[in-house]
Amino acid sequence: MDKIIVTGGKRLEGEIKVSGAKNAALPILISSLLADGWNTYRNVPRLMDIESTKVLLSNLGAEIETDGDTVRINAQGFHNHEAPYDLVRKMRASILVLGPILARLKKARVSLPGGCAIGARPINLHLKGLARLGAAIDLKHGYVEAKAPRLKGNEIYFDVTTVTGTENLLMAAVLAEGTTVLRNVAREPEVKALADVLVQMGADISGAGTSMMVIKGVPELKPVSVSILPDRIETGTLMVAAALTRGEVVLTGCEPGHLEAVIHKLRLTGAEVITAGSRIKVSGPAEISSVDVKTLAYPGFPTDMQAQFMVLMSMAKGLSIISETIFENRFIHVSELKRMGADINISGDTALIKGVPRLGGAPVMATDLRASASLVLAGLAAKGTTEVRRVYHLDRGYESLDKKLALLGADIHREKE
Ligand code: EPU
Repeated sequence: MDKIIVTGGKRLEGEIKVSGAKNAALPILISSLLADGWNTYRNVPRLMDIESTKVLLSNLGAEIETDGDTVRINAQGFHNHEAPYDLVRKMRASILVLGPILARLKKARVSLPGGCAIGARPINLHLKGLARLGAAIDLKHGYVEAKAPRLKGNEIYFDVTTVTGTENLLMAAVLAEGTTVLRNVAREPEVKALADVLVQMGADISGAGTSMMVIKGVPELKPVSVSILPDRIETGTLMVAAALTRGEVVLTGCEPGHLEAVIHKLRLTGAEVITAGSRIKVSGPAEISSVDVKTLAYPGFPTDMQAQFMVLMSMAKGLSIISETIFENRFIHVSELKRMGADINISGDTALIKGVPRLGGAPVMATDLRASASLVLAGLAAKGTTEVRRVYHLDRGYESLDKKLALLGADIHREKE
Protein backbone atom coordinates (compact mmCIF):
# COMPACT_ATOMS: atom_id res chain seq x y z
CA MET A 1 0.00 0.00 0.00
CA ASP A 2 1.19 3.55 -0.73
CA LYS A 3 1.59 6.48 1.59
CA ILE A 4 1.69 10.17 0.70
CA ILE A 5 4.39 12.42 2.09
CA VAL A 6 3.60 16.13 2.23
CA THR A 7 5.91 18.87 3.44
CA GLY A 8 3.80 21.88 4.28
CA GLY A 9 4.27 25.55 3.64
CA LYS A 10 4.18 25.79 -0.15
CA ARG A 11 1.72 28.29 -1.63
CA LEU A 12 -0.38 26.62 -4.36
CA GLU A 13 -0.41 28.45 -7.66
CA GLY A 14 -1.48 27.63 -11.19
CA GLU A 15 -4.26 26.07 -13.20
CA ILE A 16 -5.64 22.54 -13.02
CA LYS A 17 -8.47 20.63 -14.68
CA VAL A 18 -11.05 18.89 -12.54
CA SER A 19 -11.90 15.24 -13.35
CA GLY A 20 -15.29 13.67 -13.95
CA ALA A 21 -17.52 13.08 -10.93
CA LYS A 22 -17.12 9.76 -9.14
CA ASN A 23 -20.64 9.78 -7.73
CA ALA A 24 -22.15 10.50 -11.14
CA ALA A 25 -19.95 8.03 -13.04
CA LEU A 26 -20.84 5.10 -10.72
CA PRO A 27 -24.64 5.09 -11.29
CA ILE A 28 -24.25 6.12 -14.94
CA LEU A 29 -21.88 3.22 -15.72
CA ILE A 30 -24.29 0.91 -13.91
CA SER A 31 -27.23 2.25 -15.96
CA SER A 32 -25.56 0.56 -18.98
CA LEU A 33 -27.24 -2.63 -17.70
CA LEU A 34 -30.60 -1.21 -18.75
CA ALA A 35 -30.02 -1.48 -22.52
CA ASP A 36 -28.35 -3.83 -24.98
CA GLY A 37 -25.58 -2.48 -27.23
CA TRP A 38 -22.48 -0.34 -26.81
CA ASN A 39 -22.72 2.72 -24.54
CA THR A 40 -19.89 5.26 -24.58
CA TYR A 41 -18.99 7.28 -21.47
CA ARG A 42 -16.42 10.08 -21.70
CA ASN A 43 -14.68 12.04 -18.91
CA VAL A 44 -14.81 9.00 -16.60
CA PRO A 45 -12.41 9.57 -13.68
CA ARG A 46 -9.60 7.03 -13.27
CA LEU A 47 -10.37 5.73 -9.78
CA MET A 48 -10.38 2.54 -7.76
CA ASP A 49 -14.18 2.77 -7.36
CA ILE A 50 -14.55 2.92 -11.14
CA GLU A 51 -12.32 -0.18 -11.46
CA SER A 52 -14.48 -1.96 -8.85
CA THR A 53 -17.61 -1.01 -10.83
CA LYS A 54 -16.12 -2.41 -14.02
CA VAL A 55 -15.28 -5.69 -12.28
CA LEU A 56 -18.82 -5.86 -10.91
CA LEU A 57 -20.40 -5.15 -14.31
CA SER A 58 -18.23 -7.66 -16.15
CA ASN A 59 -19.06 -10.23 -13.47
CA LEU A 60 -22.73 -9.65 -14.31
CA GLY A 61 -21.93 -10.36 -17.99
CA ALA A 62 -21.25 -6.92 -19.50
CA GLU A 63 -18.42 -6.37 -21.96
CA ILE A 64 -16.15 -3.40 -21.16
CA GLU A 65 -13.48 -1.47 -23.06
CA THR A 66 -11.43 1.39 -21.63
CA ASP A 67 -9.37 3.96 -23.50
CA GLY A 68 -8.05 6.73 -21.21
CA ASP A 69 -11.05 8.46 -19.70
CA THR A 70 -13.49 6.84 -22.15
CA VAL A 71 -15.28 3.68 -21.07
CA ARG A 72 -17.49 1.64 -23.40
CA ILE A 73 -19.93 -0.91 -22.00
CA ASN A 74 -22.18 -3.42 -23.74
CA ALA A 75 -24.69 -5.28 -21.57
CA GLN A 76 -25.80 -7.70 -24.30
CA GLY A 77 -24.34 -10.62 -22.35
CA PHE A 78 -25.80 -9.53 -18.99
CA HIS A 79 -27.51 -12.67 -17.66
CA ASN A 80 -26.06 -13.08 -14.17
CA HIS A 81 -28.42 -11.80 -11.46
CA GLU A 82 -25.99 -12.12 -8.55
CA ALA A 83 -23.58 -9.52 -7.09
CA PRO A 84 -21.43 -11.39 -4.58
CA TYR A 85 -20.15 -10.14 -1.22
CA ASP A 86 -16.52 -9.98 -2.34
CA LEU A 87 -17.39 -7.40 -5.00
CA VAL A 88 -20.02 -5.43 -3.06
CA ARG A 89 -18.00 -5.08 0.15
CA LYS A 90 -15.29 -3.10 -1.66
CA MET A 91 -17.72 -0.37 -2.59
CA ARG A 92 -21.10 0.44 -1.06
CA ALA A 93 -22.36 1.99 -4.30
CA SER A 94 -22.48 -1.58 -5.71
CA ILE A 95 -25.99 -1.75 -4.25
CA LEU A 96 -26.97 0.38 -7.28
CA VAL A 97 -27.03 -2.77 -9.41
CA LEU A 98 -30.10 -4.01 -7.53
CA GLY A 99 -32.63 -1.83 -9.41
CA PRO A 100 -31.29 -2.54 -12.93
CA ILE A 101 -30.84 -6.29 -12.31
CA LEU A 102 -34.40 -6.57 -11.05
CA ALA A 103 -35.77 -4.48 -13.91
CA ARG A 104 -34.06 -6.57 -16.59
CA LEU A 105 -33.70 -10.09 -15.20
CA LYS A 106 -36.82 -10.13 -12.95
CA LYS A 107 -34.78 -11.49 -10.05
CA ALA A 108 -31.70 -10.26 -8.21
CA ARG A 109 -29.39 -11.54 -5.49
CA VAL A 110 -27.13 -8.77 -4.21
CA SER A 111 -24.96 -8.88 -1.12
CA LEU A 112 -25.90 -6.44 1.65
CA PRO A 113 -23.14 -3.83 1.75
CA GLY A 114 -22.80 -3.74 5.56
CA GLY A 115 -21.74 -0.75 7.65
CA CYS A 116 -18.77 1.47 6.90
CA ALA A 117 -16.49 3.88 8.70
CA ILE A 118 -18.77 6.92 8.40
CA GLY A 119 -21.94 5.24 9.67
CA ALA A 120 -24.36 2.31 9.51
CA ARG A 121 -25.69 3.43 6.11
CA PRO A 122 -28.82 1.30 5.91
CA ILE A 123 -30.51 0.50 2.56
CA ASN A 124 -34.01 0.10 4.00
CA LEU A 125 -35.39 2.87 1.78
CA HIS A 126 -34.01 1.23 -1.39
CA LEU A 127 -35.75 -2.01 -0.39
CA LYS A 128 -39.03 -0.39 0.71
CA GLY A 129 -39.19 1.47 -2.59
CA LEU A 130 -38.58 -1.66 -4.66
CA ALA A 131 -41.26 -3.47 -2.63
CA ARG A 132 -43.69 -0.64 -3.51
CA LEU A 133 -42.92 -1.39 -7.18
CA GLY A 134 -44.07 -4.95 -6.55
CA ALA A 135 -40.79 -6.75 -5.78
CA ALA A 136 -40.88 -9.59 -3.26
CA ILE A 137 -37.84 -9.05 -1.08
CA ASP A 138 -36.10 -11.42 1.33
CA LEU A 139 -32.94 -10.93 3.34
CA LYS A 140 -31.10 -14.26 3.49
CA HIS A 141 -27.54 -15.10 4.55
CA GLY A 142 -26.35 -11.53 4.09
CA TYR A 143 -27.96 -11.14 0.68
CA VAL A 144 -30.95 -9.21 -0.64
CA GLU A 145 -33.01 -11.60 -2.71
CA ALA A 146 -35.60 -9.84 -4.82
CA LYS A 147 -38.10 -11.11 -7.38
CA ALA A 148 -40.54 -9.28 -9.59
CA PRO A 149 -41.99 -10.87 -12.74
CA ARG A 150 -42.94 -7.31 -13.81
CA LEU A 151 -42.23 -4.16 -11.79
CA LYS A 152 -45.33 -1.92 -11.56
CA GLY A 153 -45.28 1.87 -11.13
CA ASN A 154 -46.44 3.25 -7.79
CA GLU A 155 -46.16 6.28 -5.49
CA ILE A 156 -43.06 6.24 -3.29
CA TYR A 157 -42.26 8.69 -0.54
CA PHE A 158 -38.71 8.69 0.87
CA ASP A 159 -38.66 9.29 4.65
CA VAL A 160 -35.09 10.56 4.29
CA THR A 161 -33.62 11.93 1.06
CA THR A 162 -31.15 9.36 -0.19
CA VAL A 163 -28.85 9.78 -3.18
CA THR A 164 -28.24 6.14 -4.14
CA GLY A 165 -31.75 5.19 -2.94
CA THR A 166 -33.26 7.66 -5.44
CA GLU A 167 -30.90 6.40 -8.17
CA ASN A 168 -31.77 2.74 -7.54
CA LEU A 169 -35.50 3.42 -7.70
CA LEU A 170 -35.09 5.58 -10.79
CA MET A 171 -33.28 2.74 -12.60
CA ALA A 172 -35.96 0.24 -11.55
CA ALA A 173 -38.89 2.50 -12.44
CA VAL A 174 -37.81 3.44 -15.99
CA LEU A 175 -38.66 -0.08 -17.26
CA ALA A 176 -41.63 -0.68 -14.93
CA GLU A 177 -45.20 -0.92 -16.15
CA GLY A 178 -47.10 2.35 -15.64
CA THR A 179 -46.21 5.52 -13.79
CA THR A 180 -44.01 5.90 -10.71
CA VAL A 181 -44.03 9.05 -8.60
CA LEU A 182 -40.98 9.51 -6.37
CA ARG A 183 -41.43 12.09 -3.61
CA ASN A 184 -38.83 13.72 -1.37
CA VAL A 185 -36.04 12.54 -3.67
CA ALA A 186 -32.41 13.65 -3.58
CA ARG A 187 -31.73 16.75 -5.69
CA GLU A 188 -27.96 16.21 -5.97
CA PRO A 189 -26.52 17.06 -9.42
CA GLU A 190 -25.36 13.45 -9.73
CA VAL A 191 -28.98 12.23 -9.44
CA LYS A 192 -30.07 14.71 -12.09
CA ALA A 193 -27.15 13.61 -14.30
CA LEU A 194 -28.30 9.98 -14.08
CA ALA A 195 -31.89 10.99 -14.90
CA ASP A 196 -30.65 12.99 -17.91
CA VAL A 197 -28.71 9.96 -19.19
CA LEU A 198 -31.75 7.73 -18.72
CA VAL A 199 -33.85 10.22 -20.70
CA GLN A 200 -31.25 10.09 -23.50
CA MET A 201 -31.63 6.30 -23.38
CA GLY A 202 -35.34 6.77 -24.07
CA ALA A 203 -36.78 6.91 -20.54
CA ASP A 204 -39.70 9.20 -19.74
CA ILE A 205 -38.73 11.15 -16.59
CA SER A 206 -39.86 14.58 -15.46
CA GLY A 207 -38.84 16.61 -12.40
CA ALA A 208 -35.16 15.57 -12.21
CA GLY A 209 -33.32 18.02 -9.95
CA THR A 210 -36.49 18.79 -7.97
CA SER A 211 -37.88 16.93 -4.95
CA MET A 212 -40.48 15.01 -6.99
CA MET A 213 -39.88 12.89 -10.07
CA VAL A 214 -42.49 11.28 -12.29
CA ILE A 215 -41.38 8.28 -14.34
CA LYS A 216 -43.53 6.73 -17.03
CA GLY A 217 -42.26 3.23 -17.71
CA VAL A 218 -41.15 2.32 -21.24
CA PRO A 219 -40.69 -1.22 -22.67
CA GLU A 220 -37.00 -0.80 -23.51
CA LEU A 221 -34.08 1.61 -23.57
CA LYS A 222 -31.32 2.17 -26.11
CA PRO A 223 -27.58 2.74 -25.53
CA VAL A 224 -26.07 6.24 -25.30
CA SER A 225 -22.91 8.26 -25.75
CA VAL A 226 -22.46 10.78 -22.91
CA SER A 227 -19.90 12.75 -20.95
CA ILE A 228 -19.67 12.63 -17.14
CA LEU A 229 -20.15 15.97 -15.37
CA PRO A 230 -17.27 17.50 -13.35
CA ASP A 231 -16.63 16.35 -9.79
CA ARG A 232 -17.93 19.06 -7.44
CA ILE A 233 -16.24 17.47 -4.42
CA GLU A 234 -12.83 17.33 -6.10
CA THR A 235 -13.41 20.96 -7.13
CA GLY A 236 -14.30 21.94 -3.57
CA THR A 237 -11.32 20.03 -2.15
CA LEU A 238 -8.91 21.89 -4.46
CA MET A 239 -10.61 25.21 -3.62
CA VAL A 240 -9.99 24.61 0.07
CA ALA A 241 -6.37 23.63 -0.70
CA ALA A 242 -5.90 27.00 -2.45
CA ALA A 243 -7.45 28.95 0.43
CA LEU A 244 -5.51 27.02 3.07
CA THR A 245 -2.12 27.71 1.48
CA ARG A 246 -2.99 31.36 0.76
CA GLY A 247 -2.52 30.37 -2.87
CA GLU A 248 -4.01 31.46 -6.15
CA VAL A 249 -5.48 28.57 -8.13
CA VAL A 250 -7.64 28.42 -11.23
CA LEU A 251 -9.79 25.31 -11.62
CA THR A 252 -11.01 24.52 -15.11
CA GLY A 253 -13.63 22.15 -16.51
CA CYS A 254 -15.79 22.57 -13.41
CA GLU A 255 -19.40 23.52 -12.74
CA PRO A 256 -19.53 26.45 -10.26
CA GLY A 257 -23.34 26.24 -10.13
CA HIS A 258 -23.02 22.92 -8.26
CA LEU A 259 -20.91 24.49 -5.50
CA GLU A 260 -22.95 27.46 -4.36
CA ALA A 261 -22.94 26.56 -0.65
CA VAL A 262 -19.19 25.83 -0.64
CA ILE A 263 -18.35 29.02 -2.56
CA HIS A 264 -20.54 31.07 -0.20
CA LYS A 265 -18.81 29.67 2.90
CA LEU A 266 -15.34 30.04 1.38
CA ARG A 267 -16.00 33.70 0.63
CA LEU A 268 -17.00 34.19 4.27
CA THR A 269 -13.59 32.87 5.32
CA GLY A 270 -12.06 35.79 3.41
CA ALA A 271 -11.04 33.85 0.31
CA GLU A 272 -11.70 35.52 -3.02
CA VAL A 273 -13.67 33.24 -5.34
CA ILE A 274 -14.31 34.35 -8.91
CA THR A 275 -16.36 32.19 -11.26
CA ALA A 276 -16.56 32.51 -15.04
CA GLY A 277 -18.19 29.81 -17.15
CA SER A 278 -16.51 26.53 -16.26
CA ARG A 279 -13.61 28.22 -14.39
CA ILE A 280 -13.20 29.07 -10.73
CA LYS A 281 -10.35 31.20 -9.41
CA VAL A 282 -9.62 31.00 -5.68
CA SER A 283 -7.24 33.35 -3.90
CA GLY A 284 -6.57 32.53 -0.26
CA PRO A 285 -7.10 35.11 2.47
CA ALA A 286 -4.17 36.60 4.42
CA GLU A 287 -6.05 35.62 7.56
CA ILE A 288 -8.74 32.91 7.57
CA SER A 289 -12.00 33.99 9.27
CA SER A 290 -13.98 31.38 11.16
CA VAL A 291 -17.32 30.31 9.69
CA ASP A 292 -19.98 27.89 10.97
CA VAL A 293 -21.12 25.06 8.72
CA LYS A 294 -23.97 22.56 8.85
CA THR A 295 -24.00 19.69 6.36
CA LEU A 296 -27.27 19.15 4.54
CA ALA A 297 -28.60 17.40 1.46
CA TYR A 298 -28.09 19.36 -1.80
CA PRO A 299 -28.29 22.32 -2.29
CA GLY A 300 -27.03 22.55 1.32
CA PHE A 301 -23.37 22.26 2.29
CA PRO A 302 -22.18 18.75 1.24
CA THR A 303 -21.17 16.23 3.88
CA ASP A 304 -18.43 15.18 1.42
CA MET A 305 -16.78 18.60 1.99
CA GLN A 306 -17.10 18.68 5.78
CA ALA A 307 -13.69 17.18 6.65
CA GLN A 308 -11.83 19.44 4.21
CA PHE A 309 -13.59 22.57 5.49
CA MET A 310 -12.77 21.58 9.05
CA VAL A 311 -9.06 21.67 8.21
CA LEU A 312 -9.50 25.27 7.03
CA MET A 313 -11.37 26.14 10.22
CA SER A 314 -8.65 24.51 12.36
CA MET A 315 -6.34 27.31 11.13
CA ALA A 316 -8.91 30.14 11.22
CA LYS A 317 -8.99 33.06 13.61
CA GLY A 318 -11.54 32.33 16.35
CA LEU A 319 -14.13 29.66 16.96
CA SER A 320 -16.29 27.79 14.49
CA ILE A 321 -18.98 25.16 14.79
CA ILE A 322 -19.40 22.38 12.25
CA SER A 323 -22.50 20.18 12.49
CA GLU A 324 -22.69 16.91 10.59
CA THR A 325 -26.34 16.02 10.03
CA ILE A 326 -26.07 13.37 7.28
CA PHE A 327 -23.83 10.61 8.69
CA GLU A 328 -23.55 9.70 12.37
CA ASN A 329 -19.83 8.98 12.42
CA ARG A 330 -18.19 11.36 10.00
CA PHE A 331 -15.65 12.93 12.34
CA ILE A 332 -13.01 10.23 11.76
CA HIS A 333 -10.48 12.91 10.77
CA VAL A 334 -10.79 14.78 14.06
CA SER A 335 -8.52 12.55 16.15
CA GLU A 336 -5.88 12.66 13.43
CA LEU A 337 -6.14 16.45 13.04
CA LYS A 338 -5.73 16.77 16.81
CA ARG A 339 -2.49 14.82 16.52
CA MET A 340 -1.38 17.55 14.12
CA GLY A 341 -2.13 20.19 16.74
CA ALA A 342 -5.74 21.13 15.88
CA ASP A 343 -7.96 22.21 18.77
CA ILE A 344 -11.29 20.44 18.14
CA ASN A 345 -13.92 19.20 20.58
CA ILE A 346 -16.77 16.97 19.53
CA SER A 347 -20.16 16.80 21.18
CA GLY A 348 -22.65 14.54 19.40
CA ASP A 349 -22.98 15.68 15.79
CA THR A 350 -21.17 18.95 16.42
CA ALA A 351 -17.50 19.89 16.37
CA LEU A 352 -16.24 23.04 18.07
CA ILE A 353 -13.05 24.19 16.40
CA LYS A 354 -10.72 26.75 17.90
CA GLY A 355 -8.32 27.92 15.22
CA VAL A 356 -4.57 27.62 15.84
CA PRO A 357 -1.92 29.63 13.97
CA ARG A 358 -0.38 26.54 12.39
CA LEU A 359 -0.70 22.75 12.40
CA GLY A 360 2.36 20.50 12.74
CA GLY A 361 3.20 17.55 10.46
CA ALA A 362 2.66 14.03 11.81
CA PRO A 363 2.10 10.46 10.62
CA VAL A 364 -1.68 10.12 10.13
CA MET A 365 -4.19 7.73 8.62
CA ALA A 366 -7.93 7.57 7.99
CA THR A 367 -10.43 4.91 7.07
CA ASP A 368 -12.64 7.09 4.89
CA LEU A 369 -12.15 8.80 1.54
CA ARG A 370 -12.93 12.43 2.41
CA ALA A 371 -11.20 12.15 5.79
CA SER A 372 -8.03 11.01 3.96
CA ALA A 373 -8.29 14.01 1.62
CA SER A 374 -8.60 16.34 4.60
CA LEU A 375 -5.37 14.95 6.06
CA VAL A 376 -3.53 15.64 2.80
CA LEU A 377 -4.87 19.23 2.93
CA ALA A 378 -3.78 19.56 6.55
CA GLY A 379 -0.31 18.41 5.49
CA LEU A 380 -0.13 21.16 2.83
CA ALA A 381 -0.52 23.83 5.49
CA ALA A 382 1.33 22.19 8.38
CA LYS A 383 4.84 22.95 9.53
CA GLY A 384 7.08 20.01 8.72
CA THR A 385 6.28 16.68 7.13
CA THR A 386 3.02 14.73 7.21
CA GLU A 387 2.78 11.09 6.19
CA VAL A 388 -0.72 10.08 5.15
CA ARG A 389 -1.00 6.30 5.33
CA ARG A 390 -3.60 3.97 3.78
CA VAL A 391 -3.79 6.09 0.64
CA TYR A 392 -6.02 3.32 -0.70
CA HIS A 393 -9.04 5.32 0.50
CA LEU A 394 -7.92 8.45 -1.33
CA ASP A 395 -7.40 6.52 -4.58
CA ARG A 396 -10.95 5.22 -4.38
CA GLY A 397 -12.33 8.68 -5.08
CA TYR A 398 -9.70 11.22 -6.20
CA GLU A 399 -7.92 10.96 -9.55
CA SER A 400 -4.20 11.61 -8.86
CA LEU A 401 -4.82 14.16 -6.11
CA ASP A 402 -1.13 14.07 -5.17
CA LYS A 403 -0.02 14.69 -8.76
CA LYS A 404 -2.50 17.54 -9.22
CA LEU A 405 -1.31 19.20 -6.00
CA ALA A 406 2.33 18.72 -7.07
CA LEU A 407 1.53 20.47 -10.38
CA LEU A 408 0.22 23.39 -8.33
CA GLY A 409 3.53 23.56 -6.47
CA ALA A 410 2.93 21.40 -3.40
CA ASP A 411 5.85 19.45 -1.97
CA ILE A 412 4.14 16.05 -2.13
CA HIS A 413 5.06 12.56 -3.29
CA ARG A 414 4.07 8.94 -2.92
CA GLU A 415 6.07 6.09 -1.41
CA LYS A 416 5.47 2.40 -0.78
CA GLU A 417 4.41 1.85 2.82
N1 EPU B 1 -30.39 6.41 4.63
C1 EPU B 1 -31.32 5.62 5.29
N2 EPU B 1 -31.86 4.57 4.60
C2 EPU B 1 -31.54 4.29 3.32
C3 EPU B 1 -30.60 5.10 2.66
C4 EPU B 1 -30.05 6.17 3.34
O1 EPU B 1 -31.63 5.85 6.45
O2 EPU B 1 -32.08 3.32 2.76
C5 EPU B 1 -29.79 7.56 5.34
C6 EPU B 1 -28.28 7.41 5.51
O3 EPU B 1 -27.95 6.63 6.63
C7 EPU B 1 -27.84 8.86 5.65
C8 EPU B 1 -28.82 9.60 4.74
O4 EPU B 1 -29.90 8.71 4.51
O5 EPU B 1 -28.02 9.28 6.98
C9 EPU B 1 -28.25 10.03 3.40
O6 EPU B 1 -27.54 8.94 2.81
P1 EPU B 1 -27.56 8.67 1.24
O7 EPU B 1 -28.34 7.43 0.98
O8 EPU B 1 -27.96 9.90 0.52
O9 EPU B 1 -26.02 8.35 0.97
P2 EPU B 1 -25.49 7.37 -0.14
O10 EPU B 1 -26.41 7.39 -1.29
O11 EPU B 1 -25.13 6.07 0.45
C10 EPU B 1 -24.11 9.18 -1.47
C11 EPU B 1 -22.68 9.36 -1.89
C12 EPU B 1 -21.84 9.68 -0.67
C13 EPU B 1 -22.39 10.95 -0.04
C14 EPU B 1 -23.87 10.79 0.31
C15 EPU B 1 -24.52 12.03 0.84
C16 EPU B 1 -22.52 7.93 -3.82
C17 EPU B 1 -21.96 6.72 -4.45
N3 EPU B 1 -22.22 8.14 -2.53
O12 EPU B 1 -24.12 8.10 -0.54
O13 EPU B 1 -20.51 9.90 -1.12
O14 EPU B 1 -21.68 11.26 1.14
O15 EPU B 1 -24.60 10.37 -0.87
O16 EPU B 1 -24.40 13.08 -0.06
O17 EPU B 1 -23.18 8.72 -4.49
C18 EPU B 1 -18.17 9.96 -0.93
O18 EPU B 1 -18.11 10.20 -2.14
O19 EPU B 1 -17.17 10.06 -0.18
C19 EPU B 1 -19.44 9.54 -0.33
C20 EPU B 1 -19.51 8.93 0.85
